[in-house]
Amino acid sequence: MQKVVISGTGLYTPSSSISNEELVASFNGYVEQFNSRNAAAIEAGTVAALAPSSTDFIEKASGIKSRFVMNKSGILDINRMKPDIPERSNDEWSILCEMAVKAATEALARAGRTAADIDGVIVACSNLQRAYPAIAVEVQEALGIEGFGFDMNVACSSATFGIQVAANSVQLGQARAILMVNPEICTGHMNFCDRDSHFIFGDACTAVIVERADQAVSDCQFDILGTKLLTKFSNNIRNNFGFLNRADDSGVGKDDKLFVQQGRKVFKDVCPMVAELIGEHLREFNLPVSDIRRFWLHQANLNMNMLIARKLLGRDPEAHEAPVVLDEYANTSSAGSIIAFHKHQEDLPSGSHGVICSFGAGYSIGSVIVRKH
Ligand code: COA
Repeated sequence: MQKVVISGTGLYTPSSSISNEELVASFNGYVEQFNSRNAAAIEAGTVAALAPSSTDFIEKASGIKSRFVMNKSGILDINRMKPDIPERSNDEWSILCEMAVKAATEALARAGRTAADIDGVIVACSNLQRAYPAIAVEVQEALGIEGFGFDMNVACSSATFGIQVAANSVQLGQARAILMVNPEICTGHMNFCDRDSHFIFGDACTAVIVERADQAVSDCQFDILGTKLLTKFSNNIRNNFGFLNRADDSGVGKDDKLFVQQGRKVFKDVCPMVAELIGEHLREFNLPVSDIRRFWLHQANLNMNMLIARKLLGRDPEAHEAPVVLDEYANTSSAGSIIAFHKHQEDLPSGSHGVICSFGAGYSIGSVIVRKH
């Protein structure tokens, strides 16, 4: 079997950002308008009044301070409360493809590679913008990559699951190198009218080049020592959007066709599962936790990450041990742990071990143990 490395990563960050203050001002404007338009029904008890959101709550409960978005005006417009992203003609690159190409271009440059060196493209993300053709095949075309491409979705864990699939292809000699990309327009599946979740997500795209260790030329390489995946069915994070929605008119446009979660239950269920899976994975490699210099964890909630790191280390983590990007990016689903990895890897001395770990809907958890060259 071939040895495999991550030889480059890339990040596309949208140019617009929304602060908690801006988001809460818009949400509270929407609430005020709703309550005043429905004053009589609220008074009669047939409609429930909406409660305002608060920046203090958001930062304390999640650690999020802002989020990057593909469209800001539509989200903040209290008469719209969703992004305004015009459809494109079939002759144009789709918006997911465009993001993927930007992140991939940086990853290829950092790996010292061109399209000619890549044999396959995996687009791994939470929300694919159409049924077919696969976005990965479009990305392949846009970049001029020969070989194969396919899409996969494991929600927030899509990137780590994608790394395992990419690594397996390279290990088995099916490809010299794979481009794995995570275009996430999470604002497209968010209910900006829901107080419990209107602040959670942001948009971004990450890219990872996985290739044969003996052929890699990058200045910064990470050996992939192993991957470990786990899934366990849960309805606590769910989105019922799908191709059969139109077959039952009564459900079209309902809130369950967007992201819905029982945040508290997710917190309680997932933290121990993640700590256990990483611990087990490290034991399989005879690596004591004290040997791990960095945990690039999924970026959904700061308190969750601190708890997971504490469970593993037996103490509070230092800031550099579990880097945080969710304060600026919010939850970017599968892109989150890769953004942390992309932005916080260069200072590590060679020989350092680290773990990339994602977790989310499914439930799904993916752990990737790496060692810097
Ligand atoms: N502004 C002000 N108050 C709010 C609010 C808002 N936007 N949203 C909820 N609240 C209130 C609630 O009404 C509740 O009030 P009560 O105690 O009077 O009933 C209180 O704040 C606590 O709400 P709760 O939903 O229990 O908050 P929480 O501490 O669990 O934090 C999350 C919510 C979503 C931030 C947190 O549960 C979380 O991040 N969970 C993990 C989610 C995750 O990782 N999901 C993966 C997604 S891919």
